[in-house]
Amino acid sequence: MKGAIFDLDGVIVDTAKYHYLAWKELAARLGFFFKESDNERLKGVSRMRSLEILLEVGGITASDEEKEAMAKEKNDRYVEMLASLNKSELLEGAEDYLKKLKSEGVLIALGSASKNAPMILDKLEITEYFDAIVDGNSVSKAKPDPEVFLKGAEMLGLDPADCVVFEDSQAGIEAARNAGCGVVAVDINGVLFDADKYVKCLKDLL
Ligand code: BG6
Ligand code: MG
Repeated sequence: MKGAIFDLDGVIVDTAKYHYLAWKELAARLGFFFKESDNERLKGVSRMRSLEILLEVGGITASDEEKEAMAKEKNDRYVEMLASLNKSELLEGAEDYLKKLKSEGVLIALGSASKNAPMILDKLEITEYFDAIVDGNSVSKAKPDPEVFLKGAEMLGLDPADCVVFEDSQAGIEAARNAGCGVVAVDINGVLFDADKYVKCLKDLL
């Protein structure tokens, strides 16, 4: 491993629960219950694609304009939930593992679908560890498309085959495979497949 490419939500920080809560609130307003098992499908997926899956689950159709408004409603609520986000919500071992890789000379990139990623990294005070940042603002194709990880490897100046991706979503694991990277699944619920290695959190790699 010459480069490590990290997903953010659910790998480095426990924001996956806030994404779920915010989507669940939107679903409740639209008149249906959004189950945690259905939420697995939203992990790693862009905001708009997540909304489309949510609406499909609820059997709701909406115009593009309505969808824009719903995506904004969810994101405003999500950002509100993150107002007091701080280092205490880093997942176990995340910062120590970043430090370890840095000390070993491994290059580090972020490969996240989130447009909120830069703000979250700042709140967690971990921006400095990253040699490259690829987020929802800089990619046009959502995971499982490999774009996010191919861009990450390119920004690090590395061959994708020399990079390992750390992911908590099935879409992300497939994206890493499609990019030709190695992949470690951060799989707290034991639901992921097709990875090279499985851990509960990054602490397991220390
Ligand atoms: C991913 C999350 O990291 O980012 C998804 O796993 C989320 O659940 C996606 O939808 C987009 O995030 P944001 O912050 O741009 O709405
Ligand atoms: Mg994730």
